[in-house]
Amino acid sequence: MSVSEPISPLPPPGTRVLVTGGARGIGRAVADAFAARGARVCILDRDTVPDTPEGWLRVAGNVADAAEVEAAFAAMDAAWGGVDVALANAGFSMNTPTLDLSVEDWRRTVDVNLTGAFLTAQAAGRRMVRDGAGLILFTSSLYGTIGGAERAAYCSTKAAVANLARSLACEWGPRGVRVNALAPGYTETTLVSDLVARGRLDPAALTARAPLRRLVQPEEVAALACFLASPAASAITGAVLPVDAGWTANGAP
Ligand SMILES: NC(=O)c1ccc[n+]([C@@H]2O[C@H](COP(=O)([O-])OP(=O)(O)OC[C@H]3O[C@@H](n4cnc5c(N)ncnc54)[C@H](O)[C@@H]3O)[C@@H](O)[C@H]2O)c1
Repeated sequence: MSVSEPISPLPPPGTRVLVTGGARGIGRAVADAFAARGARVCILDRDTVPDTPEGWLRVAGNVADAAEVEAAFAAMDAAWGGVDVALANAGFSMNTPTLDLSVEDWRRTVDVNLTGAFLTAQAAGRRMVRDGAGLILFTSSLYGTIGGAERAAYCSTKAAVANLARSLACEWGPRGVRVNALAPGYTETTLVSDLVARGRLDPAALTARAPLRRLVQPEEVAALACFLASPAASAITGAVLPVDAGWTANGAP
């Protein structure tokens, strides 16, 4: 490629994308953004996926179940012959004081947020390493970089996911596969509104620390995912990229 040619910042039309947790929130915004750029989209979610456009694949399943994850990739194999981009995005947060956190809730968080991400990446990696190309993305979090009170399980899994991305980037880079993690700040989704409704998050505190003094929109996270799937991002791997309105840049308590 000549350096004087403009490099596209958009995913190529027809890109085959799998998004876990794509029924709503960040995952749905990513799916919509790829579809708007001509991609073929498969959603894996434990919930039903409302209002999906014609042509999308929808697979019901739990990311913590290896067979159910494999079924989503098998559906893509059957429909489209493989996968180009996989986003391991399904996840949740308990926001519970650690002295009250049951081992069952700890394990459930690890199962979904970390083991689910591993299973998604492994199923994607099998196909991408075979094909010698592909992009795996994880949704980590600002809490993959910093810690937070009453979020021990969540922060632990999100930091682990960030290092899973770096590790797989090292392992599969020589085979043509890039691996990166998105690190959103507080993003306007059901995950956040549910925690606010249960009194587990203070809405004023969400914006006070962010230098931009606002939440992130799911579409802003989706725009980064699309860029990472474009030729313009072809040298970006092993990166954990914040989309957090400046939250993690701010050292103030
Ligand atoms: N919203 C935020 O502020 C924020 C910030 C940083 C990171 N994140 C991360 O982004 C990701 C998406 O969060 P969101 O805010 O869109 O959440 P959300 O609750 O709005 O959506 C999560 C989706 O994942 C699905 N899901 C959950 N567990 C699943 C499982 N075991 N198997 C299959 N599907 C499952 C849900 O059904 C839902 O559709 C999560 O990993 C979350 O930790 C969110």
